[in-house]
Amino acid sequence: TIHQKKYLINGEMQEWTGNTTEVFSTISSTESYEPTLLGSIPDMGEPEALRALDAALLAYNKGQGVWPTMHVRDRIDCMEKFVQQMETKRDEIVKLLMWEIGKSLPDSQKEFDRTVEYIRDTIEEYKQLDRDAAKFQKFDGVYAHIKRGPLGVILCLGPYNYPLNETFALLIPAIIMGNTTIFKPAKYGVLLITPLLEAFQNSFPKGVVNILFGRGRAVAAPIMQTGKIDVLALIGNSKSANALQDQHPKSNRLRLVLGLEAKNPAIILPDADLDLTINECLAGTLSFNGQRCTALKVIYVHEYIKEEFLRRFAEKVDSLKFGNPWDNGAKLTPLPEPDKPAYVQELIDDAVQKGAKIWNKKGGQQTHNYIWPAVLHPVTKEMRVYKEEQFGPVIPVVSFSDIQEPLDDMAESNYGQQVSLFGKDVYALAPLIDTLVNLVCRVNLNSSCQRGPDVYPFTGRKDSAQSTLSVYDALRSFSVRTFVAFKDS
Ligand code: G3H
Repeated sequence: TIHQKKYLINGEMQEWTGNTTEVFSTISSTESYEPTLLGSIPDMGEPEALRALDAALLAYNKGQGVWPTMHVRDRIDCMEKFVQQMETKRDEIVKLLMWEIGKSLPDSQKEFDRTVEYIRDTIEEYKQLDRDAAKFQKFDGVYAHIKRGPLGVILCLGPYNYPLNETFALLIPAIIMGNTTIFKPAKYGVLLITPLLEAFQNSFPKGVVNILFGRGRAVAAPIMQTGKIDVLALIGNSKSANALQDQHPKSNRLRLVLGLEAKNPAIILPDADLDLTINECLAGTLSFNGQRCTALKVIYVHEYIKEEFLRRFAEKVDSLKFGNPWDNGAKLTPLPEPDKPAYVQELIDDAVQKGAKIWNKKGGQQTHNYIWPAVLHPVTKEMRVYKEEQFGPVIPVVSFSDIQEPLDDMAESNYGQQVSLFGKDVYALAPLIDTLVNLVCRVNLNSSCQRGPDVYPFTGRKDSAQSTLSVYDALRSFSVRTFVAFKDS
């Protein structure tokens, strides 16, 4: 058990004496499925939030602070020091990932290693930016020395499904570009930040990284209300993003770096390779129990192959192994949100009541903290699961006879992140791809949707995202181009 009493504001590790919130895991070691107490965190509020903000403002000092004016090489040294210390915490953090969010051992290890790699690649990309900035440009007799400068003070809020990786995909580029930051770990996956507090403290100058614990509303809203935040960086849902944005009195000055909901479809054409398609759809819909913004959240299958696809796909879903995250081969693991099984059940009941059938035998079976994925078909527009981002183990399948049907649905959707397209005939695929790239930001050919490799742009249209993340793009999203110009004399 970790009773987290320390917190980091303005470079000082302080001792918390106020109220605390207990942190539980839905993973249970008892027959009665009692949640397991993992520890507790400080229940911070407005006073601590405003102290963190003051520290970040002071460290930035309107662009004249030690950090935003520090030489590139020195900032890189700080980041290298941080990542080296982080690497020593691998076992501890992987264990917490499994207990706090129920992520399987291989996926937890992958999340950790991917994050270390992300930081190292960011350092390299930052060096490249600096090399590019050293070059002079000349147009119409005007020389320019163009580089990228920081934006100011950044509030970072990450999601529970990648509490380390996605939080750091915001935080690390924001820091290295010379901004100062305040961040609050996600509700689930909060304890895994605590082994890193000292690394943050002794790697960066005071006030560059300030870490808050507590409820989002209690600490993030007072910070936004001051109007002193320059960037809201959030991966999560649009409801929280909109609510926070609305708190900012000068929201036209606020830059948004947001990764939000998606309802990524798979479109399966009549000539698709079914073995490959079924495997990709399985990983796409159920990797980490569908709790990924990039998960496939609706499958459109052509009438011609519908029966065979449904039968074989449903069998595969039932053949998956459920177990604790450390169990060998467990693909389905406990859901960290205690109310998620009930929500998934509501979606299933609503669909069944409106005419859908559950195609797999185990679909909807519940243990205390898990609900077996249900393959639902036919799914129609009246059903909640058709539109809602389920972010959990339930799979709606829609059939089509004319490709225009899924295209129209995608065009009408509030989301526009990615699509997976399955088929063989290049003459049929090519014009479709031309249309799909205008509806979403990434088209995956004969493969499921995903964010990585992290050098590729990660963004979306409509309510799915604002700005772009990636090793390359995030450095640009958290900075602005500035330049010195002089004339040929
Ligand atoms: O939840 C959204 C994540 O960006 C998904 O990332 O595709 O690497 O699992 P992933």
